[in-house]
Amino acid sequence: MPTDNPDTIDISRVLAQTSIGHVHYLPEADSTNNQALCRAVDLPDDQSELVLASRQTAGRGRGQNRWYSAEGSLTFSLITRLLPIAASQTPAVSLVAGLAACLASERHAPRAQPAIKWPNDVYLNERKAAGVLIEVARPATPRFVVGIGMNVNNTLAGAPQEVRDRAISLCDAAGQPVGATDLLIDFLNLLDEHLAMLITDGPRLARLWRGYCLLTGRRVRLSVGGRTLEGECQGIADDGALLLATPQGVTPCYGGVVEIYA
Ligand code: BTN
Repeated sequence: MPTDNPDTIDISRVLAQTSIGHVHYLPEADSTNNQALCRAVDLPDDQSELVLASRQTAGRGRGQNRWYSAEGSLTFSLITRLLPIAASQTPAVSLVAGLAACLASERHAPRAQPAIKWPNDVYLNERKAAGVLIEVARPATPRFVVGIGMNVNNTLAGAPQEVRDRAISLCDAAGQPVGATDLLIDFLNLLDEHLAMLITDGPRLARLWRGYCLLTGRRVRLSVGGRTLEGECQGIADDGALLLATPQGVTPCYGGVVEIYA
């Protein structure tokens, strides 16, 4: 049923205006990614499904990160239909999701500067607005679970300064509440379009995600497996690797935690 509440998702519109075959709504979930990984096992190959929750009790991020879903934020996991993409392309799928979130965000907050903080964060005006967690169900014939937690109408205007220095909500960047259904529909359609491009025109897609790279030209420190690498970021390669210019030359990096230090 249509609603005036900008936070309430109008599921019938999502079904009518996207390629999603089914929406599984849960007022509360442990983690929408956990639920989606279970549901993916029985989902027909040609169908996608959206698992949407109002609250999560055990939201997960990369590594040991936890994800807290505040009221007014958007929390969902998409089970993609079966795509001719290998499980090894999971990092590229994460960048596609980040790109779709950037493109959708700028439609709703035209003055915000969206960016992908490699490999899985979406920033607005240099502060984190969304996190992406891609997981693979059924590795032999991979179904990707694209999990997103996005600060949408959970304003951080009253949050302590140290929180506001690091995080932002789309409504704060837009200066007004954002229609969560419109945002979700835009995101899902942009994700569809750019996942297709991953199959048909990878180099063009890579040019698009490079254009949103927060780290390009910045000095960054990357920690991976107990090692630390420092250098200037040279952008993101076609295969999704972060390119770091180190004294040893330009090094492609495929995982790790990155911080900007200058
Ligand atoms: C990160 O910042 O490391 C990624 C956070 C991803 C959070 C989303 S919320 C929806 C989905 N369900 C989860 O448990 N995690 C993802």
